[in-house]
Amino acid sequence: MASYRITPLTEQNGAEVVGIDFTQPVDSETKFALNDAWAKYHVLVMRDQKFTPEEYKRAALVFGELQQHDKREHHVPGHPDVYYVSNDQFKNGKRIIPGETFHTDHSNHPAPPKATMLFTVSLPGRGGDTQYADMHQAYDDLSAEMKKRIKPLRARHVYQSKYSPRELTGLHEDSAKQIPPPGIHPLVHVHPDNGRPALYLNPVRIEAIEGMGDTEALALIGELMEHATQKKYEYRHNWRQGDWVIWDNRSVMHQANADYDMNERRYLFRLMLKGSVPIPMA
Ligand code: SIN
Repeated sequence: MASYRITPLTEQNGAEVVGIDFTQPVDSETKFALNDAWAKYHVLVMRDQKFTPEEYKRAALVFGELQQHDKREHHVPGHPDVYYVSNDQFKNGKRIIPGETFHTDHSNHPAPPKATMLFTVSLPGRGGDTQYADMHQAYDDLSAEMKKRIKPLRARHVYQSKYSPRELTGLHEDSAKQIPPPGIHPLVHVHPDNGRPALYLNPVRIEAIEGMGDTEALALIGELMEHATQKKYEYRHNWRQGDWVIWDNRSVMHQANADYDMNERRYLFRLMLKGSVPIPMA
């Protein structure tokens, strides 16, 4: 493999990969190094890529196996398994910016996707960053008392919680029929590859904590979210043309920003990779 560099972007969260053309085959040693860096830094930014939708799908296989999005009707024309995010979607006359509050993807699934990735097609001149909050660091810094309190707790994640801070765009009937039963997930899980505990939170999907009243559950989720989204846990990605970013949904929450000129187009191809059932702490 031609020489390439992997450089951390912050101390613990985010690393940049320069010098690989992912339209070409990637050898097994390089695949191993990339997956290793991804497990350590949670967000990998591959610079200077150029993909057609089919090339993008092939490149994604370096990190795992593709998983369909729940909203099957929303895809790149002619490519039913390549999803996209854009700023040109409306619901009841109101613009919807997908992913505008912190969340982890498709946690309503019993085995949620391990990864999500975006590739830049069109970017605004400025703004539209994506923020990533490191849930390992956030967990590590909790008090011993809070760690003990949340260790046995499990939350119910549905497609859209009645307590969600934002409305999703809704599903066509055919997609709705294929939504799996709710995911019941520990509030703290252990990452299967890096072995580290992490908070597993998603206010868009969490509708209840087992054995707890809603008022207490919402207060607890609110307190954990406030803690976990502090700037000290964040890598903030400022997009450049040619960026391909993959993040680990088991290690970070993410959110989009609607702070740019909406007359400019922001459009990125999006794929997800299959994951496994979250592992509770022993
Ligand atoms: C998402 O939640 O996947 C969207 C992130 C973004 O558009 O920055």
